[in-house]
Amino acid sequence: MAERMKPLICFRNIGALIQIRPGPPPRLAIRKGCALLVRDGRVEKVVADSKISTRDVSITVDLKGKAVIPGFVDCHTHLVYGGTRKDEMEQRLDGASYLEILQQGGGILSTVKATRRETEDALFESARRRMRRMMTLGTTAFEIKSGYGLDLKTEMKMLRVGRRLRESLNVPVILTYLGAHAIPKGETVDAYFQFVMDHLPEFLPLADGVDIFCERGVFSVDQMVGLFVRAKELGFRQLRAHVEELSHQGGAFQAARLGALSCDHLEYASAKEIRAMAKTGCTAVLMPGVTCFLGGEKLPPVGKMLEAGVNIALATDCNPGSCPSYNMQTVLNLALSLYRLPPDRALIAATHGAAKALGGEKDYGGLLPGQRADFAVLRTGDYRDLFYYFGDNFVAETWLAGKKIQPEKIPAAF
Ligand code: NIG
Ligand code: FE
Repeated sequence: MAERMKPLICFRNIGALIQIRPGPPPRLAIRKGCALLVRDGRVEKVVADSKISTRDVSITVDLKGKAVIPGFVDCHTHLVYGGTRKDEMEQRLDGASYLEILQQGGGILSTVKATRRETEDALFESARRRMRRMMTLGTTAFEIKSGYGLDLKTEMKMLRVGRRLRESLNVPVILTYLGAHAIPKGETVDAYFQFVMDHLPEFLPLADGVDIFCERGVFSVDQMVGLFVRAKELGFRQLRAHVEELSHQGGAFQAARLGALSCDHLEYASAKEIRAMAKTGCTAVLMPGVTCFLGGEKLPPVGKMLEAGVNIALATDCNPGSCPSYNMQTVLNLALSLYRLPPDRALIAATHGAAKALGGEKDYGGLLPGQRADFAVLRTGDYRDLFYYFGDNFVAETWLAGKKIQPEKIPAAF
C-alpha cells in the first residue's frame, strides 16, 4: 500500500502529551489539548485538537483528557531465568551479603542451576508472561541479557529465547551476551574467562553486544578490557558493563574509554569515571530497585553525574536475585525518593535516556514525529501522579506501534 494510503489514526482529546526533546540537555515538552496522529506504527505529527481535519483521519481514539507519555525503555534486565531466589531474603536479613551468598554457591549460581534445567520453551513462556506484564505496566522497549548459563548450551538457549521474544512481541529488544556474569562452580576465574574469550565469536550471530560483571572476587577490570577489545574486533556493536556496584574498581573509566554505550550500577563511581563518561557520551544506567531490594545504603553520585552532563538512564535490572521487580513505575518512585531526581528528569531517564543506552534514541523514547508510536495512556491527566500516588498502577493502556495491547494479569507464577 502506498505510504499515504495507510490509515491515519488520530488520538484526540489528550489531556497532556509528553514528548522528550533530545537536547542536549533533553527536555520534557508538555502539550495540552492536542492530538497525536499515527500512521504505519509511527508518529506522523501532533496537532491542536481544534485543527484536526476529519477528512484525512481513518480511525479516531478519544483519550478523554488523559496524559500520554512515551513508553518506558527498560535498558537493563535479566528477565529470562528459571526458578526464584525467595530464600535469599531471609539469608540477607540474617547478615549474609549478596557476594557471600554467591561465593557459597548460591545467588547467581542458584539461578544458573535452575535455568540450565528449564527447556527453551518453558523459559520462553515464563519470560513472555513477564514481558507482557511489563508492557501492561508501560514498558515498550527492552534490553535482555544472558548470563544464567555460564556454558555454551544454556547461554545460547537464553539468547535464542530473547530472539523469539523480540520476534513475537513486536517491541524493540536488544540482546546482550553476559557469559562473564559469574564463575561456574568448580572453575577458576582465569580458566572460565579464557573459555568466554575463546567462544566469543560463536555469540556474534546471537547478540547485539556484550556485558561483564566487573567486581572484586568476580571479573577484573583487565579482563573487562580484554573482553571489550576482542568484542570490538569481532564486530559486536554494543559494549556495556556492570561496574562500581559493590566496590570501586575503576571499570567505568576503562569502559567509557573503550566506547561502551553504557556503564551500569555505578554506586561507587568516582569523579574520574564521571568525567570519562561525560566525555565519551557513555550512559549511566541506574537501578534504584536493587538498592531498595538488597537494602544497600550506597547511592550513585547522581547529582555529580547530572552536573557533568552524563546521560542518565533508569532501569529495573529485573532478575530473581537483586531486583525481582519488573515495574518501571516503581523505579520512577525510587528515583525520586532515593536519588532526589525530580519527576521530569526521572521520566526523561526512563524513556529517552534509556533509549540512548540502547542506541535506539532516534527510533523510540521521545514520541516525536518519525519515532515508533509506543506510548502509555495514564489514568489521569497529570504525569506526576505516577510519582505522587506511589505504589499503584497509573498506566491505563499501553500502545505499541499504534496498536493497543491486551493487558496481562499478574501471572500466578513467573
Ligand atoms: O545486575 N551484579 C550482577 N548481576 C545482576 C544480578 C543478577 C542476579 O543476582 O541474579 C545485577 O544486579
Ligand atoms: Fe544486572
